[in-house]
Amino acid sequence: MRIRVRVPATIANLGPGFDAMGLAIRLYNEIEAEPAPALEVVLEGEGADVLPRDVTNRVVRSAAALFEQAGMTLPPMRLRCRNRIPLMSGLGSSAAAVVGGLALAAAWLGRRGWREELLELATALEGHPDNVAPALLGGLTLVTQDEEGLIAVRVLTPPMRVALALPAVQISTEMARRLLPTQFPLSDVVAQIGHVALLVHAFREGDWELLRRAMQDRVHEPYRARLIPGYAQAVRAARAAGAAAVCISGSGPALAAFAPEGHEAIAAAMAAAFEEAGFPARTWVVDVEP
Ligand code: HSE
Repeated sequence: MRIRVRVPATIANLGPGFDAMGLAIRLYNEIEAEPAPALEVVLEGEGADVLPRDVTNRVVRSAAALFEQAGMTLPPMRLRCRNRIPLMSGLGSSAAAVVGGLALAAAWLGRRGWREELLELATALEGHPDNVAPALLGGLTLVTQDEEGLIAVRVLTPPMRVALALPAVQISTEMARRLLPTQFPLSDVVAQIGHVALLVHAFREGDWELLRRAMQDRVHEPYRARLIPGYAQAVRAARAAGAAAVCISGSGPALAAFAPEGHEAIAAAMAAAFEEAGFPARTWVVDVEP
């Protein structure tokens, strides 16, 4: 038996959709699992030099959590992780590890229809739902929680690409969450509700002008921008190069720029701005999962 799973990077929040919206993109971590005499973890690519290779590895821990839920212990296995999602980038590497571990455990256990079922466990392991939900369901996913549990819906979008720039600075999501106020004036709440509602429409319709107006946030970006050196310059550069809208991906520091065309130039413009601020950046131009 050999199991292969592929988990996408995710852009959470998308501006105003804090903890409630995320987008899966075609940048994938791949995991292969097969029975072995003892646990063995082989790491390649992003984070291979720093991620643990034992039971503390996040993929292993989340696979073990699903086995535990089924009343079993994790069988000894050999895992090969090919990681393309950079760590502490805001592109959902931790959620990808959680979902990857759960997905391989679900396949090992022969579970069907596991995606929706696993959302609760994935969210509990990750702490917030807006990376794990699109990593599980794909594409643009809307998610929230009420007294009955999580509600997640995937919304279909027209084909779209995104330009990403990741400056050479790492941000811990935990720290970036502690920075945020816990109360907001009603005027901010009202503006946020309007923006996020229109943003969903803009994505669904591929309406670039509406996306430009709707991708505005009052809840996290104003507080996190200062963690990203060169943020204002990079946003300005992206817009000058033709981006309709730019957001902090998750808790950053990656920036995601949305545009109908010219993605390579937009990515290069953001990288040049970060470079000028003293923080060289890596860039990607990636398709959104449709
Ligand atoms: N919604 C989460 C946050 C996403 O912004 O803290 C983290 O990737």
